[in-house]
Amino acid sequence: MEIGAWSTQLEGEHHPLLRDPKTNLIARSEFMGLDAQVRLADGSRRQAVNFDSAATTPALSCVVDEILAQLPFYGSIGRGKGQKSTCSTEVFEDARAVVLGFLSAPADEYSCFFSGTTTEALNKLAGALIESPDDVVLVTRSEHHANDLPWRERAKMRYVEVDELGRLRMDEFAEHLADGKVKVVSVQAASNVTGYVHDVHAIARMAHAAGAIMVVDGAQIAAHRAFSMKGASPEEDIDLFALSAHKMYAPFGGGAVVGKTALLDAHVPRYRGGGMVDVVSDYDCTWLGAPELYEAGSPNFVGQVALARAITALEEVGFEAIQAHEQVLLRKALDGLAAIDGVRLYADSENISDRVGVLTFNVDGVDAAELAARLADDHAIAVRQGEFCAHPLCHRLLGISDDDIVAGMRTPGFVPPAMVRVSFGMYSTEDEVDQLIEAVAQIAGRA
Ligand SMILES: Cc1ncc(COP(=O)(O)O)c(C=O)c1O
Repeated sequence: MEIGAWSTQLEGEHHPLLRDPKTNLIARSEFMGLDAQVRLADGSRRQAVNFDSAATTPALSCVVDEILAQLPFYGSIGRGKGQKSTCSTEVFEDARAVVLGFLSAPADEYSCFFSGTTTEALNKLAGALIESPDDVVLVTRSEHHANDLPWRERAKMRYVEVDELGRLRMDEFAEHLADGKVKVVSVQAASNVTGYVHDVHAIARMAHAAGAIMVVDGAQIAAHRAFSMKGASPEEDIDLFALSAHKMYAPFGGGAVVGKTALLDAHVPRYRGGGMVDVVSDYDCTWLGAPELYEAGSPNFVGQVALARAITALEEVGFEAIQAHEQVLLRKALDGLAAIDGVRLYADSENISDRVGVLTFNVDGVDAAELAARLADDHAIAVRQGEFCAHPLCHRLLGISDDDIVAGMRTPGFVPPAMVRVSFGMYSTEDEVDQLIEAVAQIAGRA
């Protein structure tokens, strides 16, 4: 093994991934652990079905191969002068270019800084952009807590409501923006509860016309639909976008923000330490620019190499095929579940073209926690239950008022409301959807 005699797989020297002949997506054998057997309550074993990809995804083998290929050459990033350090730093910098390319972000306008999860990224952005408790932030009632609580802590909040099916009330953006006081608009690109894909470029146009910064929580779109930082016109361009690698088949702690360099340079994050400064005197310091300004501390090389390799895999497959497959699964699952007596589906089950592969439901007379446990223990099907870190949205879909929730919060022993979520990865199959429908029918029949 000789340093300098290798070239990184990030530069394109990887083997083509095996494809599923039916869907043309990456074959199931390329994902780690999809054939794992789990033990059921009756002691038997069965191959696990993972319908929890909206929470996190299994690793692609090529991502693990890439990490293993890089580790012999691992050295400190951006800090050392040894050969390994130089090599790792080059790979790390290449990874930024991969993320920028993935989001069609021109490198002369945008920077990519690495972070951990989307939660961490949005906290960093909130810490940097909000400079006074009087700053006003506009989010929606569809947001994951990651795109609500970090802003709530620091700024005055305004919220765009959802309608009875959980879709954003788009007309409310203009109303909230009319007085020109909103500093930041931050909206998810796709919901982790309803799966709705939001027209964040149209929202950006309204935000920019009112002088606001447009932030997008990209956690739920990144592995499901193509996304561009550029809109149809410059007014529609997104200013800042955050994603998590563990939702993109690269669960090694990576994540990134792509943002306008001038905007990032104009703020200083509260997350501080080595690597973000030029010079530090006894009582003062001068800051570096983006991306380093937002990357205090030693970087997660493995996580970001994994992210970049997962992105090249997603690009190899293409989002048209991913979207088409998710639509087939979603249609089949919604129709199958709707036909079962007692199943209550949330969000729009008729028009699903604006939904990624996420659905939520309940079964009358069966507690959501019990339903999820039975699916796992009796059928080896992994789903999520609860309110998916999007409580205000779930309360609306469930028809529960905020007053009732507040009263519940003050009542000892209060059990929060819940629903069950099924979410698909690109490896999910129609056969697995059939297993789900059969399992839910059995459980509902016994209710
Ligand atoms: C829409 C949305 N935003 C943000 C997050 C937070 O992502 P992470 O847990 O990777 O920080 C999630 C996670 O489920 C999500 O679905």
